[in-house]
Amino acid sequence: MSTIISKQIIPVGSTFLHDVLAGLTAEKKSLSSKYFYDETGDYIFQQIMEMDEYYLTNAEMDIMRHQTEQITDVIAANPGAFDLIELGAGDATKSVHLLQSLINRQLEFTYLPIDISRHVIEDLEENLPKKLPALKVQGLNGDYFAMVKKAKTLSARRKVLLFMGANIGNMNVTEAKAFCKALRNELSAEDLLVIGFDLKKNPRQILAAYNDAAGVTKSFNLNLLSRINRELDGDFDISNFDHYASYDPESGSCKSYLISLKDQRVNIGDETIPFLANEHIYMEISQKYALTEIDDLAISSGFIPFAHFFDQQQYFVDAIWKAG
Ligand code: AVI
Repeated sequence: MSTIISKQIIPVGSTFLHDVLAGLTAEKKSLSSKYFYDETGDYIFQQIMEMDEYYLTNAEMDIMRHQTEQITDVIAANPGAFDLIELGAGDATKSVHLLQSLINRQLEFTYLPIDISRHVIEDLEENLPKKLPALKVQGLNGDYFAMVKKAKTLSARRKVLLFMGANIGNMNVTEAKAFCKALRNELSAEDLLVIGFDLKKNPRQILAAYNDAAGVTKSFNLNLLSRINRELDGDFDISNFDHYASYDPESGSCKSYLISLKDQRVNIGDETIPFLANEHIYMEISQKYALTEIDDLAISSGFIPFAHFFDQQQYFVDAIWKAG
């Protein structure tokens, strides 16, 4: 199961080494959460999604289980056949409900899941038709923007993009705006974007999702240090680092850090990185949004906010934006 979940969005290799060294030699140390998702990271993320504290997955699943008819109404309101392009499709467990609803409506469309993992794409192409025999599926293996451009060369049909799972939250607000603008530039007027956001809510509930009692999120973060040891010839002693999560209700940013528990030196290949006791490594942002901030993001990146679909507890929203 874990092997078909992939959120990694940039190929690794020398870029991985370069990014790690740049992040750890900067005045304020950081590592990029896009590198969380090696095979072990995929497995731990699967465990996170099953935790009681991590409400996000169930909330978006609730939307997909109960509101796909209404989402289908919005998609079907525009005439003509379309391509449904999913960014970071993973195992499509949520989107399968939408696919079923679009098929039931007898709409003419092709599903184009994009994922950086070839295995994810092969798996979807093999297994989705078993679940949904009427589905036309063509997987695209690669970087989001390169693959959206490729999809545009494959057909001139109107496009409906899916970007679910609150993956937009792993960008800060400035990065999210640049990302949405770049997506808008790939689309034509009237094309649609269905995009999932985790909403601002009780700060304790948000913090618990990233600071779980069993320490699963801690091991998710520490796994990146182990990955550096495995792939980049590092010698982190992970027992010398602790995980710290914080949530700021004002800005909506939930941030994860690793804290050095002592003065220490860590070797990565030929480089030696000094850490002071209590020095932090900034690991990940999981940005939370108010509804007005979501609409503002749509408008400032060239979209028109069109519809909001909430789970029953109003924890999460799948917003539909129209390219303006
Ligand atoms: C993938 N992403 C939306 C998750 C999140 O909620 O930010 C990643 C994650 N990090 C810690 N827990 C989950």
